[in-house]
Amino acid sequence: MKFFIDTANLEQIKEAQALGVLDGVTTNPSLMAKEGITGKDNILKHYVAICNIVDGDVSAEVIATDFEGMVKEGEALADLHPQIVVKLPMIADGIKACKYFTDKGISVNMTLVFSAGQALLAAKAGATYVSPFIGRLDDISTDGLNLISEIRLIYDNYGYETEILAASVRHTMHIIDCAKLGADVMTGPLSAIMGLLKHPLTDIGLAQFLADYKKGN
Ligand code: E4P
Repeated sequence: MKFFIDTANLEQIKEAQALGVLDGVTTNPSLMAKEGITGKDNILKHYVAICNIVDGDVSAEVIATDFEGMVKEGEALADLHPQIVVKLPMIADGIKACKYFTDKGISVNMTLVFSAGQALLAAKAGATYVSPFIGRLDDISTDGLNLISEIRLIYDNYGYETEILAASVRHTMHIIDCAKLGADVMTGPLSAIMGLLKHPLTDIGLAQFLADYKKGN
């Protein structure tokens, strides 16, 4: 399972990269705004800064909602760096743009996916990644993990190569459950990734080993 970090915070990206388990980064306009990155030029520079930290794919989202606008913006994003994946919203023009980019060999991440039908369309349009937002479904009392299972079943039925990128991951159990269900990728906050490390028996065991070592030395 690939691990992406869902942030535009350079320090957190560096920390995850230093851990040696980071496969990529996802961002969105809200995450950029949270870091105070505003204005087209600053946003583009920030994508390049992220690409220079990580080795893997970096999703950069278009703002346009019409086909021509998405193509223009997406091409400019893809030209920034070979690691850029163009992130497109799950609307009709987004699907058209997805087909346009994938035909040109440019990687696409279809975002704001909330149903199996949307995921099926993304696969048919050749998306590299499909991003079902599991946390936001949980927020409205709908089982986000169930959507991961549905998409896995559909993609396996037909051998679609689009990777299921479980997005809107909020905590450590989301990561474990997505791994059990066969999501190809998860994107979540650094806290959820670091949460995987935690076990009290590890801490107790380590403290005991160190104490016993000191007794004999
Ligand atoms: C995915 O690409 C999105 O950036 C993200 O996972 C959304 O997460 P949120 O629902 O916690 O905002």
